Amino acid sequence: MYPSSIFPASLRICVVIFALLLSVSVCSELKVRVRLNDGQITAETLESDSEQDIISVEFRHTDGTLITFLADFKRHVKILRALVLGEPERGQTQYQGLCFISRLEHGEIIPSEAMVRLRQKNPHVVRTAEEKRGLERLSMNMAVNLTLSWHLSSHIRSLCRDAQDFIYTREQDVKYWLEKGVEGSIFKVFPQNVETTGLPSCSATTDPWQPCLCSYTLRLEWYPCMLKYCRGHGSSPYKCGIRSCSKAYRFDFYTSRKQLCMWDEES
Ligand SMILES: *[C@@H]1O[C@H](CO)[C@@H](O)[C@H](O)[C@H]1NC(C)=O
Repeated sequence: MYPSSIFPASLRICVVIFALLLSVSVCSELKVRVRLNDGQITAETLESDSEQDIISVEFRHTDGTLITFLADFKRHVKILRALVLGEPERGQTQYQGLCFISRLEHGEIIPSEAMVRLRQKNPHVVRTAEEKRGLERLSMNMAVNLTLSWHLSSHIRSLCRDAQDFIYTREQDVKYWLEKGVEGSIFKVFPQNVETTGLPSCSATTDPWQPCLCSYTLRLEWYPCMLKYCRGHGSSPYKCGIRSCSKAYRFDFYTSRKQLCMWDEES
């Protein structure tokens, strides 16, 4: 420890766990140890590129599921991808990819230019988010064509490759992107020509071949959601750290058979 006397009082309050340094890099990678909801610890990787104006967050759940979040600020797009491990002995595939694309709202996550400057003082500390944000429920009723997805964001192609027929978005977000001039042919109402009202939830369905409404819930356990400001010697406030958040998302979407919604079991 430094003797506290070398820090003026105003500076001492700014010695936070995370510091924003004045560096000139455009890319950065940060590894953070994060405690999951079930008490287990995972290694989370946060990458950012201020030139492309993107941030990505990735971690593995205790059950093996890989969760990836990508914010594309230029295109107002966020992508949440889950690679869910299957049980081949139960006739399931090795893993199933799910890609959920929705509108990135202003202020959901700190800007990429702040993210590239983020350094952590003690990488061994296990972190939990300072603010737990509530569950957001999203009804995913449109599909995105992977081949044409670059019209919306160039990052969908690589991130959602393993999700193939499971790339979903919402009508209200599509409306917003169309107004921004995004090509409309990449979106399709999903499912087409199928009446979904009155369809049972997959958790209430026992027949593996029956169409049903699947839901998938994930929690982004730790991400920098806001900038913290400190005050120097009477000068105006400056950025000196971040506030961390965790947030849960529940996605509801149609599946043509219960078998494709293997995690949605009545427990
Ligand atoms: C996606 O778009 C391409 C190019 O227009 C088309 O050939 C392909 O059939 C589309 N895929 C789906 C699943 O609609």
